[in-house]
Formats: sequence, structure tokens, C-alpha cells
Amino acid sequence: MAPTSDFEQMWSDLAPVGRSASSGGYFRQPWTTAEAELRSWFAEQCAARGLVVETDGIGNQVAWWGEGDQPGVLTGSHLDSVLDGGAYDGPLGVVSALAALDVLRDRGFEPGRPLGIGVFVEEEGSRFGRACLGSRLVTGATTWEQARELRDRDGVFLADAVSDAGLDPDAGLLSLDRVGTFVELHVEQGRDLVDRDVAVGLASEIWPHGRWRFDFAGQANHAGTTRMEDRRDPMLTYAMTALAADEQARLGGHRATFGRISVQPNGTNAVPSLVTAWLDARASSDDALAAMVGAIGRQAHDRADRDGTSLDVSAESVSGAVAFDPDLAARLAGLGDWPVIPTQAGHDAGILSEAGIPTAMVFVRNPTGVSHSPDEHAETADCLAGVTALADVLAELAGT
Ligand code: GLV
Ligand code: MN
Ligand code: MN
Ligand code: MN
Repeated sequence: MAPTSDFEQMWSDLAPVGRSASSGGYFRQPWTTAEAELRSWFAEQCAARGLVVETDGIGNQVAWWGEGDQPGVLTGSHLDSVLDGGAYDGPLGVVSALAALDVLRDRGFEPGRPLGIGVFVEEEGSRFGRACLGSRLVTGATTWEQARELRDRDGVFLADAVSDAGLDPDAGLLSLDRVGTFVELHVEQGRDLVDRDVAVGLASEIWPHGRWRFDFAGQANHAGTTRMEDRRDPMLTYAMTALAADEQARLGGHRATFGRISVQPNGTNAVPSLVTAWLDARASSDDALAAMVGAIGRQAHDRADRDGTSLDVSAESVSGAVAFDPDLAARLAGLGDWPVIPTQAGHDAGILSEAGIPTAMVFVRNPTGVSHSPDEHAETADCLAGVTALADVLAELAGT
């Protein structure tokens, strides 16, 4: 892949990597060959710009432009995708960061403080179930000792996946010591910007959100000979719980989704013995999130009593409300006619912000709001407006 400074060329270079021929969506799971290709692509792009990439022991990457002891400005995002995801969620922030650096150089800009471009691994948690795992590990929000025993759907331990990808976790993690400010550009994943008829916005906050695992256990039995009143069917308990989650989220104006389930033994002619389902829940405040998840859990337990099943609920990853640095947002808002909007999606920016790093996000309009889907889209003109906005932001922050 020939490195180039052109946004559209970079975009088309990336287009085939991890793309499903049948759906057109992306499978860029961490520590796979698709992700290794993306990591090499990023290193080549940085090298073509004379920047040296540091890859840490789990695959997070950073390249710095400029020297000095002043706290640096880091921009970037992630290159992994959800299963069958869109092209923009993550890569738009990385490609835009490289393109913004080109814009700054074309303008003759010299950084007054170090300016870095970074890529965080396993942002989506699509393989090991923990969202923003790369950034959580570098900030210390999660420790390697806690994470190494995580298993993917095939039972592979995280520690083995990382070393099988040719990385050495003992080599250590990226240091954020140089990072004084973090800016992540991201495709918008809702319709705020399209409703406001603007191409670019800034983020005010991230809703609190999390993932909970529900294990519904019953008794495997014959689908024909077992009378309905004799069954202990965990699928029924799960189905009612999914309806309860939908009802609770609608009542409060929040979000609740069961997007993943696994069924044992998963046979058409057997009552299942076990249904495991993962709840993704998001709400406008920490208290509202706790109340909603509590209400869903109570309804699930009540239904389990009625169905003769049992239920175990465990939290997998929970992120509290994130308010981005208001002084930084106010400083950046003056650079353009950019609305400041909340988001219900999680981001590495939220993790860095919670670690005490002043952080901002730049959103690029999504004409349909569809995301985590092959249908995710952004118009090239809007992406280029995002690059210019990011260049302006970086010039403001790294100029002196
Ligand atoms: C990640 O993109 C999330 O918000 O789930
Ligand atoms: Mn995402
Ligand atoms: Mn993302
Ligand atoms: Mn995300």
C-alpha cells in the first residue's frame, strides 16, 4: 500500500481490509490478520510522513511530530470494528488525523508542542467483551492482570491472542505522560448534526453505559414429549426480559439492547438448558442507568421464578457519565460554527477524559444516523470539512 497524503486515497486503501464480500460490512477484530494489516498500514502512513511509530505490547500505536517538554496534544481513534460494522466508526478519526497533519504541514505550521497521532486497540470490545480495552489498559482503568484471563468466543485467552499476534505484553503499554490534551474525531452515530444541518460538531458528554451478562438456566428437554406445564425453559425468561428491557428504556427515554445471545444446546427440537444474553444499557445519568438495569433485573428474576429457571446477572464493563472539559469545549467552539452535542456512544476519549486528561471530540455528520452497521455512511465533503476542523483544532492546541 503506497502511503499518500490524500484523504480519499487513504480511504480507498483501507476499503478492502476486513470487508465482507457478502454484506459489505467490516470484520476488523483485534489481534486478527485484518487488524495486523491495519496496524502496518498506520505505521507506513506515519513513516511516509517522517514519523516514528511506537507500538506497545498489546498493539496500541502512537507517532509524535515535534519535540519538547511541553504537554503534547494527541489525536486519533481506533481501527477495529464491531462485527459486520461500518467503515467510518474509528478509521475516520485515524485517517482524518493523518490528513489534518498534512493540512497543517501544507499551511507551514510548526508545532509549538508535540502533536501525536494514536490508535487504540479493541475499542469496540467485539472480541473480548470489554469496550475500550486498549485505552482502559493504558490509563490503568483496567489492569493487565484483570484482562489477561478474558476469553473470546472460541475460548482463546486475551494473553494468547496478543502473543499470537506477535506482540509482547511484557514489553509494556503506551505511556500517556506526554499527553496534555486528547482530541478524537469520530463519525456521528446519531442524527443530531443532520437535524441541525451542519457538517461538524463538538461533544459535550457521553452517556453512562455498560454491558451486563444474563445467564438464564433451565432444563434441556424434548420439544415434542415435554408438556408445556412441565418445562423449565430459559428462552422464555430471556424473551420476557428482552421485552422488559425495551419497556424500561422507552419509559425513561434511555437505551437497552440485547444484541447478542448464545443458546445451549441450540437445537431446534430441544428446550434449551441455558441462554446467555448480553444487555447493553445506556441512560442520561448514572442513577438512571442503575435504576433501569435494576428494574430489568427484578423483572427478569420474577419471570425466572414463574418459569422455574434461574438467573445470574454480572456486570462486564460499566462506564460512568463523562463530561468533556468545558473550558476546552468553549475554547474550541470559538473556532467554528459548531454545535456542542451529547453522545450515547462510548469512545476512548471518554476513558482518557476520566483519567484526568482534558479531552474533546469532533463529530462529522452522518446523513442517516445509522452506525455499527454496513449502512454507516458519511459524505466525503463532510469528512473533508472534519479534516479542516480537526486541523484548526490542532493548530489552536499545539500552536504554542
Ligand atoms: C462503541 O462504539 C459503543 O458505544 O458501543
Ligand atoms: Mn463503535
Ligand atoms: Mn468508535
Ligand atoms: Mn465506540
